[in-house]
Amino acid sequence: MHHFTYRSGTLHAEDVSLETIAAEVGTPVYVYSAATITRHYEAFAGAMAGLDAHIFYAMKANPNLAVLKLLGGLGAGADTVSEGEIRKAMAAGIPTSRIVFSGVGKTEDELAFAVDAGIYQINVETAGELEALARVTAAKGRRQSVVFRINPDVGAGGHAKITTGSSDNKFGVSIEEAERLYAVAAGLPGVAVEGLAVHIGSQIRALHDLGAAFGRMRALTLRLREQGHRVSRLDLGGGLGIPYEMSEAVVHGADLIHSYAALVRNTFHGLDVELGFEPGRIIVGNAGLLLSRVIHLNKRAQKTFVVVDAAMNDLVRPAMYDAFHDIWTVRQAESDATRHDYDVVGPICETSDTFAEARRLPDLAPGDLVAFMTAGAYGAAMSSTYNSRRLVPEVLVKGGAYAVVRPRQSWEDLIGEDRIPDWV
Ligand code: LLP
Repeated sequence: MHHFTYRSGTLHAEDVSLETIAAEVGTPVYVYSAATITRHYEAFAGAMAGLDAHIFYAMKANPNLAVLKLLGGLGAGADTVSEGEIRKAMAAGIPTSRIVFSGVGKTEDELAFAVDAGIYQINVETAGELEALARVTAAKGRRQSVVFRINPDVGAGGHAKITTGSSDNKFGVSIEEAERLYAVAAGLPGVAVEGLAVHIGSQIRALHDLGAAFGRMRALTLRLREQGHRVSRLDLGGGLGIPYEMSEAVVHGADLIHSYAALVRNTFHGLDVELGFEPGRIIVGNAGLLLSRVIHLNKRAQKTFVVVDAAMNDLVRPAMYDAFHDIWTVRQAESDATRHDYDVVGPICETSDTFAEARRLPDLAPGDLVAFMTAGAYGAAMSSTYNSRRLVPEVLVKGGAYAVVRPRQSWEDLIGEDRIPDWV
């Protein structure tokens, strides 16, 4: 469910017409719906009611400060993967007691920053990271809560590039290594091992792989406890998927959240552990769209290209993961309007700058507005300035109000950060 609907024939974000935003802010532009973000967060939190559950929003999905502030205000913590993310979460007012730090390649400087900041938990992913953290905490005379991220050898996800839980993937330590590290950490005064973490992939729409991974977490928890270790926290990661095609929307997001919550309750029933969750996409994915304008049509004998002003640097998911994003025209087409198969492409100088091939869409003409739907997660977050295109602005809508929560990058910022040495 999201709050992008047609009213009097024009697509609106909540109560604001996308034609208004296009006219006032320009295109391309990301548009987010605060009501949708709130709804998804509350659905997730509500499904976990009664559990000792901590929700750490995976901010890599959408790290805009306004989005973080909105979610922080609803009670979310943050799952971070870099010093930059920790800094942004803190800048949005998320208390460090609600921040966890994941990632396979944390540097010693980043670990020191996290320890100094007093963050809630570091998800340790390698033996070397445990040693580095022990050095950092010893030097500071501090003690840091950690969990070990295990690699359960169960991968899942919507694409090989976003699967993380298979033993072929770089993430986490094996189950045997986790047992060994627990014993090692017992001799490290600066490291308080609280439990385990797992995250097997992203855009997961069927729960059996998560069930298998969670079963391994439970078994390992019991084994570690038999060995005399403390396991008081299990961080279950993120990964729940969302419908990208509206025809798919029959598997309603809320239903998946409820089945997931039931799986969690069944698996960890009676273990007396605090549970952590790191949802990203399911919170913000369909709360955002990328609004773009048609520049030209390029008609060939066999097909017609629709060239829009957004490109792969603004939304890289189709080029990178062959991802599907629904395309909606901002002017609602009549149900009997003629339709064509269009290739929708951006202006960038490579063929991978293709949003859709042979997509059945109503008649399009230069100047028309289109929306790439379900772009709230991993859209703006993954954008770049490739082809010296300025980073796209972001707009947050709430009811009838909207605000530019990130302006379009200026030409000065695009150009002026480069330095020319005097020997050139
Ligand atoms: N926790 C960890 C440790 C993660 O690595 C991730 C995502 C999450 C939580 C959040 O996962 P989510 O709930 O959003 O599925 N750029 C890709 C997705 C990469 C996901 C990376 N890790 C895409 O656009 O599909």
